[in-house]
Amino acid sequence: MDAPDPHRDDDRILIALDSCPSTQDVVREQALQGAPAGTVCTAEHQTAGRGRRGRTWTETPGTALMFSYLARPARPPAELGPLSLVVGISLAETLPLGPRLRWPNDLVLGDRKLGGILVELATPPDAAPFAVIGVGINANLTAEQLPPTDRLPATSLLVEGGAPVDRTALRERLLGALDRDLAAFDRDGFGAFAARWAALDQLAGRELELRLPDGVVAGRCGGADGDGRLLVGGRAYAAGEVERVLG
Ligand code: BTN
Repeated sequence: MDAPDPHRDDDRILIALDSCPSTQDVVREQALQGAPAGTVCTAEHQTAGRGRRGRTWTETPGTALMFSYLARPARPPAELGPLSLVVGISLAETLPLGPRLRWPNDLVLGDRKLGGILVELATPPDAAPFAVIGVGINANLTAEQLPPTDRLPATSLLVEGGAPVDRTALRERLLGALDRDLAAFDRDGFGAFAARWAALDQLAGRELELRLPDGVVAGRCGGADGDGRLLVGGRAYAAGEVERVLG
């Protein structure tokens, strides 16, 4: 891996690497050394990129938009459940082609996955909690480069839009949106985002199956509640995996 070479980019520490195992680990290390909120690591390639629930995140070098962002939330860990939904809203509203959100944090175009979010919360014993927010967007992948998936099929901005995007310019816009929206979440909580979530929610009103640690529940999705929990058949779930969308 390149030696991390942090430099200030306007008001932000940005570590830009050709290759690393995972940008999550670079930012986590920076955080433990006291780096400020908004510190970012981006890479052209990851050799051990990870996704939610122990999945791997793979890409072809130089095609995806990938970064990890350090958040130092003002709210206590117990109130951070909706953090990944806030990140999703921020990204979906800023990305081209108008992607929508599949709870908790898949970015989708139609029923295809454009990108994902991985929030890793750390509670070091001798320092304030922090969150490393990982973002992976299938930006300039050709149809042949789309990764195989075990759930939603993948797509990319290139495949859907027909032209490559400027990943650096797009990253800057996404980071600016995250700065603003995470500050608003600190200040106002998820209640301030509920209407924006509803406007982007791909699941509300559809019949689905949600996998829980002890089984599967099925029912009509009522969107997300004021704490960012998924409503299925009138009950709220803070965690789980949407397995099948039936309607
Ligand atoms: C998911 O869809 O499950 C989340 C994918 C998150 C991938 C990004 S790429 C940048 C950052 N580094 C990682 O190892 N993972 C996240």
